[in-house]
Formats: sequence, structure tokens, C-alpha cells
Amino acid sequence: MRAIIPLMEIFSKKEIVEILSNDDKNDWLFSLADKVRKEYVGDAVHLRGLIEFSNICKRTCKYCGLRCENKNIDRYRIEAEDIIFYAKKAAEMGYRTVVLQSGEDEFYNAKKLAEIVKEIKKADVAVTLSVGEMSFDDYKMLKDAGADRYLLRIETTDRNLYKQMHPNMDFDNRKRCLKDLRTLGYEVGTGCLVGLKGQTIESLADDILFFMEINADMVGIGPFIAHPDTPLKDAPNGSFSLALKVMALTRILLKNINIPATTAMETLNPNGRIIALQSGANVVMPNVTSTEYRKKYEIYPNKICINENPEQCRGCIENKIKSIGRTIATDCGFRKK
Ligand code: 5AD
Ligand code: FES
Repeated sequence: MRAIIPLMEIFSKKEIVEILSNDDKNDWLFSLADKVRKEYVGDAVHLRGLIEFSNICKRTCKYCGLRCENKNIDRYRIEAEDIIFYAKKAAEMGYRTVVLQSGEDEFYNAKKLAEIVKEIKKADVAVTLSVGEMSFDDYKMLKDAGADRYLLRIETTDRNLYKQMHPNMDFDNRKRCLKDLRTLGYEVGTGCLVGLKGQTIESLADDILFFMEINADMVGIGPFIAHPDTPLKDAPNGSFSLALKVMALTRILLKNINIPATTAMETLNPNGRIIALQSGANVVMPNVTSTEYRKKYEIYPNKICINENPEQCRGCIENKIKSIGRTIATDCGFRKK
């Protein structure tokens, strides 16, 4: 029985804008998103083991602490054999997906990454890549090596804001990447930042409509958090509740997709991931690398879990998930059909 929820009333952009613009219907919105989540993807939460394997990046995104112009950061690159070690350890700990994430580090080109993916695929895990913009051929090489999914947030669908935030990058190329990933048969993840300076509610509504338009399999949404070593250091942080609303609407409209309770949400609210899991999210991505790297992967300040080790994070998040009556998924967590 699917027809529990009358959704037609919030399909238009105007109505999305209205919901995002005022807070009187927040309780209704979050509980509706929670119902849709339960109905379409169930109570099991998928844990993805995250390996942030290099903080070296050639880009200069204005909001991101990893931008190459930031000299106040200790750069690192985990060696291939250690990446494989962490991935296999994650599999032994029970993770069914490993996410390999990095800055746009040219050392780790598609060829090198393909070797790593092939090795990791010998363990019984799905592999998600999140390493930025590449050519069709590179994405193909990685798919052929066994990669299952790819995360590439559009960040914002406002073309002008995109341009301001991403010097020397091309909005159309980012869209091309998402299209190529789809063509190649990846599960495609995208998402946006909420609270960028100059971002309007209308453009957030467009972001949600974009997720629908490309039929995203996964959508990650997080509030912007000002990093002191970036040009946006004095900009106000994004709002936790607005990010939560964008996420809840995304759940209501895209229904059966995977939505993470993002680390950025917990950075702004000590219970942020649990609140997100009760407002539409069904995925958490605990870090599975050693403590030494965590501090250095400072996309934004006050990131959570930087002093914990993989075992502590696994235990911590499992307990939190169980405390709200949810379970830990045992399957790889592809998009439910
Ligand atoms: N605040 C919040 N999220 C950020 N990201 C990058 N910088 C920040 C920041 N200052 C997000 C981007 C990117 C993801 C890996 O981290 O959306 O896609
Ligand atoms: Fe890392 Fe809670 S998930 S300490």
C-alpha cells in the first residue's frame, strides 16, 4: 500500500519555496519525510565506510578548506596499499560499502584509482568514488574496474552563484560529469550546500527540482560552515534547520533514494545526524581511517569524530541508531527499486 500520502500539493516550485520560506509547517514536513523514508526504504540504516585518502586538491572552491590556495593545511596522501588496507578492514568490520573520497588530486589519476578499486572489489563491498570531475573515459575506466557509485555534488544549480564560488570551473562540465556517470551505469549521487552567501530560497527549490530532473540515486545535503582559511571566512554559517528542510523535501519528492545524515549537520547540531535520520535520511558515513588523517581533512572547521578511531565511530553510531529504534542494514544498500 503506497498511497498513504497526498503529495501533489508540494510538487510545484512555488510550493517548495513557500515551505522553505516559513517554519510553521516544519513538524509536519519532518514527520512526512520520516513516513516516506519508512515506507520506501525502511528502518534499516546503511553505513558507508568513508576513506578520505588525499586532501590535496587543484581546485579553489571558495568555501572549502582543501582549496589549493590554502597554505595553512598539512597536506597528506594515503598510499595505495594503505587505502586498500583500510577498505578491507572496513569490510571486516561489517561495512558493505566503502567510499573513497579526496580532493582533486592529479596524482591519483583514473589508472591508479582503477587498480585500487579492483583490489577492494575482491572484498564483498560496493565501492563509491568521490574524487571530482573527470573525463568520460576516466569514469569508464573506473566503472570497468568495478566502481558501483559516484558522488559529485552540483553544490548549487544557480549558475551565477556557481561561477562565483568555483573560480575556473564550469557549471556545464559538472552537469556533463553527472550525465556521463549515469550513462556509464553508476548509481549517481549529487547534492548541494545550504546557506552559501548569495544563495536564494528559489535556487534551493531549483536544486531540489534538479535532483528530480536527473533522477539522482543519492542526495547529500549539508549546511555551509565557514572555514577560517578561505575567502568565505567571515560569511555566516548556513542554517541547520533550512538544510534539514531541503533534505526532507528531497526525501518526499524522490522517495526511494539514499540520503545521508551528513557530518556537516552534526557539526552544527550535536544531535544533527539522528535528527536527520528522523527527518528523511537513511544513510550514515562513518570515517574508517586512523585518527592522524582526520584532523587534516578539514573541509570546514569543527568536523566531528576527528579524535575517534574506526572502532569508536562504528560503536558510537550503531548505538545512536539503535537508540531510536532503527536497525543497521546488512545488504550493500543500492537504491531500492
Ligand atoms: N561547509 C560545508 N560543506 C562543505 N563542503 C565543502 N566545503 C564545505 C564547507 N565549508 C562540502 C561540499 C563537497 C563536500 C565533500 O563537502 O559540498 O561536495
Ligand atoms: Fe564517530 Fe560518533 S560516529 S564518534
